Amino acid sequence: MSNVVILGAQWGDEGKGKIVDLFSERFDMVVRYQGGHNAGHTVRIGDQTFVLKLIPSGILRPGKRAVIGNGLVVDPAALLKEIESLEALGLNVRGQLFISNRAHLIFPFHRLLETLSAAIGTTSRGIGPSYEDKIGRRGIRLAELLEPSHFADRYEALVEEKALIARALGIPEPDFGAIRAEYEGYAEWLRPMVCDAARLINEAIAAGQRVMFEGAQGAMLDIDHGTYPFVTSSSATAGGVCTGSGVPPTRIHGVVGVSKAYITRVGAGPFPTEDRGEAGDELRKRGNEFGSVTGRPRRCGWFDVPLLRYTSLVNGFDSLVITKLDVLDHLEEIPVCVGYRVNGQVTCDMPATCRGLESIEPVYERVPGWKTSTAGLARYEDLPGRARDYLAFLESRTGVECGCISTGPERNQTILRSGSRLESLLEDGV
Ligand code: GDP
Ligand code: IMO
Ligand code: MG
Repeated sequence: MSNVVILGAQWGDEGKGKIVDLFSERFDMVVRYQGGHNAGHTVRIGDQTFVLKLIPSGILRPGKRAVIGNGLVVDPAALLKEIESLEALGLNVRGQLFISNRAHLIFPFHRLLETLSAAIGTTSRGIGPSYEDKIGRRGIRLAELLEPSHFADRYEALVEEKALIARALGIPEPDFGAIRAEYEGYAEWLRPMVCDAARLINEAIAAGQRVMFEGAQGAMLDIDHGTYPFVTSSSATAGGVCTGSGVPPTRIHGVVGVSKAYITRVGAGPFPTEDRGEAGDELRKRGNEFGSVTGRPRRCGWFDVPLLRYTSLVNGFDSLVITKLDVLDHLEEIPVCVGYRVNGQVTCDMPATCRGLESIEPVYERVPGWKTSTAGLARYEDLPGRARDYLAFLESRTGVECGCISTGPERNQTILRSGSRLESLLEDGV
């Protein structure tokens, strides 16, 4: 029974939500393994649009189990809001959602601390400071919140450190007592959903069920492999699946990268193929490139082969899903970055520093556009020849097949290529 990872191959917002929702029909369980409510995964079903933040996109499929793994940081207030908004739409969230007892908590003072740290254009959800406490061995797990006396001790130790920071900075202390009471109040509604998720997932696998792992953010935002320090604070690459869910590598059979047919980035940080001119504005307009969580305009640019080769290297992509092909329909020619020029030499290597990435010069090849609508096409044969040539160009340069092509936000606006490695993974071949 093949278990498959679906993750972002660029800087996030690649269309993971749509793809996870579509493919989850074939799986029994969908597991998030990192991040928090900094994610915004959009799923359009008919005239309804859902934006999932902390809850796996699989929740939209009745009967499928959705799991928040130990690798996430959970803000209970944000979680409750998300649960209630989905329940108001008739979904049985509490019947399908399971949360790891080893996931860590986000507290309001994490959001406050974020406003004090270096501005890299974060989502201001308290994600980074919560992970800092986890790595600093001060963080608090959900399991600890559910044991009142244990929580009291752990909370006192945590806020002692926060009070020291407030005093050192000369800012007013948050009302730690009120926050504690608020969190103690969360314990009761959280309790029925909290479980040993690693055990739950591994038992499901042992019983022959199929599991899909849903990445948040994207490989270039990964704390280790991304454009540090302009990254998120979790492991958004395939390696994060094992640490963030408790499922061993031996139980994972395929890794699928989701990539736009171009590229976007929200927040600060290097972006070699960014187009700050009219062509970039047109991509933003046609692709409706505004953040699904913060509403911020996304920076837009051209497909970056060295970047994709790098994210493929660190994730081992079996296949790529290319989304938003339709956004390029208007172009006479499509620039594709095929290499980075460094000191006169062209390379596909990814620099390890932001300064290095900022100093490269992208080398472009211009691929002919197709200048006809691909919006909503669902059969590969129906794509214009030049659109197929564009995809073949990406395949040859990245070395990874384009197993699926998305031509619109709806489930049925998707082409799954027959005979692809992706098709075989989805059909449960290993
Ligand atoms: P995620 O974070 O990776 O799930 O992506 P987001 O939901 O933040 O952003 C992707 C946006 O593109 C959403 O508004 C989707 O509805 C939309 N979308 C996904 N696939 C396609 C596509 O193939 N074409 C178009 N035009 N829109 C798409
Ligand atoms: P999905 O799952 C795009 C970016 C932020 C910022 C950096 C750090 O929808 O693809 P953080 O709040 O995580 O500490 O911010 O990471 N970022 C995302 N960009 N898509 C996301 O999620 C993102 N989650 C965080 O804009 O640059
Ligand atoms: Mg998003």
